[in-house]
Amino acid sequence: MTTFNIEQLQAELEHKSPRVILKKALEQFDNIAISFSGAEDVVLIDMALAIRKDIRVFSLDTGRLHAETYRFIEKVRKHYQIEIELLTPDRGLLDVFVKNKGLFSFYEDGHQECCGIRKVEPLRRKLSHLDAWITGQRKDQSLDTRQAVPEVQIDGAFSTAEQQLVKFNPLLNWSSAQVWDYIEAYQVPYNDLHEKGYISIGCEPCTRAVLPNQHERTGRWWWESAAKKECGLHAGNLKE
Ligand code: ADX
Ligand code: SF4
Repeated sequence: MTTFNIEQLQAELEHKSPRVILKKALEQFDNIAISFSGAEDVVLIDMALAIRKDIRVFSLDTGRLHAETYRFIEKVRKHYQIEIELLTPDRGLLDVFVKNKGLFSFYEDGHQECCGIRKVEPLRRKLSHLDAWITGQRKDQSLDTRQAVPEVQIDGAFSTAEQQLVKFNPLLNWSSAQVWDYIEAYQVPYNDLHEKGYISIGCEPCTRAVLPNQHERTGRWWWESAAKKECGLHAGNLKE
């Protein structure tokens, strides 16, 4: 890691293209990894490999992803000949949670508890060994929670007293249409669910296909209000 000033970095990357942001992230940090959701954020992998061959990629295997997403993760692994580290929930926490509350408690008391165990805790473990991470967040994914996200930020949710963690969001300023133009132009592999009406893809019980012209976020945690639709990975996006 070369020394950096976050305000300077933000000013330098404001409104920049995904490639410019990614290049800066990968040059500035050695100990950095891409957080891949198994959806259209695959373009980050495609772009990053053109910059650096030794990129690190991880995915949160919640145990509840669609069969199509598991297949897609394997497809990406083979296509790019890369390792994708799968992070699994803590066995003890999960056992107690499922024993007490079953497999679908989120429909009754919200997704925070399940996401906390299946996503946030494993992510926290992973991020504690990194200096920076790269996500596929875009502004157009949510009018409620992602409008104020910057291209690069100190991660307020996962930094610790000992370790300041930097978070890069290279796709921030791209629209969904731009991402899909890229996927088509460069023949990037994509999740089969996108051919079945799915736009934003998360876990199977918490994701559904959307109707034409419905916003992509309406297919996620549809029983909850739009302002709550962050699972803790990007908790800093939620207003108090
Ligand atoms: S979520 O917080 O609502 O689930 P979203 O699906 O919009 O996130 O994806 C935004 C970014 O969060 C992805 O591009 C990816 O970087 C990260 N992300 C989301 N889900 C996962 C996952 N299962 N594994 C790894 N990264 C993920
Ligand atoms: Fe659990 Fe749904 Fe969150 Fe997946 S998205 S971790 S199934 S609450």
